[in-house]
Amino acid sequence: MSFLIKCLDCQHKAPFHPTSANCPKCNGQWRVAEYDLDAVEKVWTAQLKNRPFDLWRYYELLPVRNPIPSISLGEGGTPLIQAVNLGMMLGCSNLYIKDERQGPTSSFKDRQAAVTISALKEAGITELVAASTGNVAISYSAYAARAGIKLWAFVTSLVPSVKMREIALYGSQVVKVTGSYDQTKQMASEFARQRNLCHDMGARTITSVEAMKTIAFEVAEQLTFKLGPPVSNGNGKKPVKWRSPDWYIQAVSGGMGPLGVSKGFKELQQMGFVEKLPAIAAIQAEGCAPMVLSWKQGLETPITVTSPQTYIETLATGDPGRTYKLLKREVDETNGCFDSVTDEEAFRAMHIVAKMEGLSVEPAAGVAFAGLFKLVRNGIIKPTDTVVINCTGHTMPAEQWLLGDNWSRDIELPNREESPQQDGLLAALNRVAPDRFPRIIIADDSGDARRLIRRILQSQGDFTIFEAGDGKEALVMIEKEKPDLIILDLMMPEMDGFAVIDNLKRNPETANIPVIVASAKELTTDEKSRLEGQIQSLMQKGDFLNDEFLGEVRSLLD
Ligand SMILES: Cc1ncc(COP(=O)(O)O)c(C=O)c1O
Ligand SMILES: [Zn+2]
Repeated sequence: MSFLIKCLDCQHKAPFHPTSANCPKCNGQWRVAEYDLDAVEKVWTAQLKNRPFDLWRYYELLPVRNPIPSISLGEGGTPLIQAVNLGMMLGCSNLYIKDERQGPTSSFKDRQAAVTISALKEAGITELVAASTGNVAISYSAYAARAGIKLWAFVTSLVPSVKMREIALYGSQVVKVTGSYDQTKQMASEFARQRNLCHDMGARTITSVEAMKTIAFEVAEQLTFKLGPPVSNGNGKKPVKWRSPDWYIQAVSGGMGPLGVSKGFKELQQMGFVEKLPAIAAIQAEGCAPMVLSWKQGLETPITVTSPQTYIETLATGDPGRTYKLLKREVDETNGCFDSVTDEEAFRAMHIVAKMEGLSVEPAAGVAFAGLFKLVRNGIIKPTDTVVINCTGHTMPAEQWLLGDNWSRDIELPNREESPQQDGLLAALNRVAPDRFPRIIIADDSGDARRLIRRILQSQGDFTIFEAGDGKEALVMIEKEKPDLIILDLMMPEMDGFAVIDNLKRNPETANIPVIVASAKELTTDEKSRLEGQIQSLMQKGDFLNDEFLGEVRSLLD
């Protein structure tokens, strides 16, 4: 299907050549692909249902000629996972994670690599120079290997050595630059110029931005599958087929991802597939947040961060150049925002996502999750909003500083010859954990809430946990099990939490068991005064994201 490349400076339209980076009329480097969307709409309506769920199902809106390239590694088609536990913790139940870790090299850059390297292969390119904060080079390397392209990967010396070794493993030449990422980009560009080699142009690369649109296409289809087709609002317009989320959140460095995703949703809207555009939230690491700083001051051209102060090297673009202005327009038009989080907040979020949702994400993705927490906490994201968060990449080995020192318990087995008996083995196992763990009863009528509290407790220590689904059951269980601590909901059928407490206090055997009240709703002053002196601590469910809850549990068990 035909498409043209339009120059953002002189509006001249020209055919696409993967290797020509400039407008033939004014030499401008900033250009966008334009398609015949009416024609694509007809083809998709008729044919999409018969195509496999991968990136190439949308090939009419991708700048490649061959829709099933031989270099494919199964890119795209990543799952959209509902984050039930995190959603409960945040009081935001429509929370979905686009799990880009499940791409061929475990990051969302696989989309970019698949489309860009395909186009370069079609154009006969055999050597390519690219600067990267790690993931782009890994992903390009994998596809370049299949395409018969030699990659010169310029990376900053801050990129973790496991990532560098992976780049080298694929047969690319790693060039390590001791300097900032912006300097690394300059070195790469100069190297390519001197040797007359093809050079990756970052967010100016048409194929890369276009590839990111497939995230929007997939999300719209997946949300429709999960939530059902949108209901027509009866305004006489043709009903739309697919759903957009209210928010799309991503961690941002150069900004190519959200730029492409936003373009994808716009094309869906123009084709009549979705009603509205999601608000775009672009999250940066506080120590390298040029876009956030500039946006908060209402600037059109970005402030540059010359020496980034963040451990999250993946997001270390200090000079976003014109991408900032382009992305700002998308953010402003969709009532989205730019925001930043500290490295500590990102690492903490990474840990929470792993413990609560079973996803091991990389620090850059942790930035997006920490941004989500911040936007929910600040009331910018509303409890009923549907939110999609791009989980952009996988952590390689879990970062060592994340877990502290006591993350394993060691068994040193006695030498078999010296002590052949089983006794030695059993004694070693006994040292792994004591026989008796503190006993905790969770009384809550919501199974989801009980699971959340159980998960928080079990991910943090050894407890024997009992669960009761209403007040009466809780009381019987407390008398039988003699727990060391009770975590009690207030609004429950059969007998509410207040009555449970009254009963506990009347029985000398249970009167002194500490109670933490965990309540989903704001308590009235009257309710609070009824609890005064009766319980040890009051936790609103939003408090579970803080360490306070665990601190409280530990101090009551000591
Ligand atoms: C895991 C991960 N998250 C986020 C980003 C930021 O991407 P963007 O280029 O869209 O700013 C990158 C960039 O390399 C990345 O690798
Ligand atoms: Zn031009």
